[in-house]
Amino acid sequence: MAVIACKQQAQRDPDPQGLAELRWLTLDADALKALGTAPTECLVNPDDKHTAALILIGRTAFASPLLLGGQAAKSGMSCQTCHSNGHSNKNFFLDGLSDAPGTADVTSSIFSTSRGDGVFNPKPIPSLSDKNAHTRTRDPASPELADFLHGLIEEEFAGFEPEPLIFDSVLSYLRALDNTACDSPIPVRPQSLERALERMDSATRAIEYAMLLDNQTQSTQFLLAAAQVQIGRISARYNKPVHARIRRDLASASENLRVLRENIPDAHADRALQKWREEWTGIQKRLRAQEHASLFDLSQLQNYLQDEP
Ligand code: HEC
Repeated sequence: MAVIACKQQAQRDPDPQGLAELRWLTLDADALKALGTAPTECLVNPDDKHTAALILIGRTAFASPLLLGGQAAKSGMSCQTCHSNGHSNKNFFLDGLSDAPGTADVTSSIFSTSRGDGVFNPKPIPSLSDKNAHTRTRDPASPELADFLHGLIEEEFAGFEPEPLIFDSVLSYLRALDNTACDSPIPVRPQSLERALERMDSATRAIEYAMLLDNQTQSTQFLLAAAQVQIGRISARYNKPVHARIRRDLASASENLRVLRENIPDAHADRALQKWREEWTGIQKRLRAQEHASLFDLSQLQNYLQDEP
């Protein structure tokens, strides 16, 4: 069993229906900045269409709790939680896993029973995008990265071995992350509805690609579930009584993806997804029209955070 250090930072105890990101913030963190903004994701342009598709799949998996499995997944945690847009989440803090904001012990037994090393040994969360950082130990081009990643997912986070397509895609995404593709210093941007919709678009294009490849049943199901998680994240930011209708629309869009997932393999799945995209276009319009009243709006977010215990 891991030796858990004394509590050094006051942890938030957020509303379970509220924004998941509040679960790994200290009380004294600037919550508005942490939940309202994010560093730009820096991705180099791939040479060919196949790699571009793999990067989209990897990007979707990276942000999906389902890749991690176990306790981490249940709490909504993904690679993206610690490595926000491929950088380091300096505000990350979880009791038993961190000793200071921006650190985590990825060999603790909180998330897994197989890899706990019995020592509380948090390390700073590295940027995966800064290819020259001195904290970087694993060269993204080396096979060592694949071994490290298998260990991280299957042992540390007690996830299942990912499908080869998903696993290779995460590697392609990690290799494409590169700060040199962004201005310096890395621009910090609002976590707007547009960003969330753009991730949703990546997820649907990733699903289309997985469907195109033969025998990618499980990968397609995984990506459909990841898209449902992304809908849930958008829904959490439309939290007022006036949003009841749009939340119902989102729940129905998510349910339709679930049905699609359960029917796979299905020869007509591509047509069903096309129909779903048309429905989603309508929902996107309504989401945009109500963005000003949602938690994607910084002043609404500020009010919400003031009311949080
Ligand atoms: C709870 C926070 C947390 C989560 C979730 C997390 N990581 Fe990390 N990651 C870390 C920390 C801390 C390190 C540094 C570990 C060390 O130095 O031993 C690290 C290291 C890495 C490295 C090595 C970087 C280098 O240069 O050596 C890679 C690659 C990586 N993580 C990818 C991922 C991927 C992919 C996921 C999702 C499957 C993930 N991480 C999930 C905290 C996290």
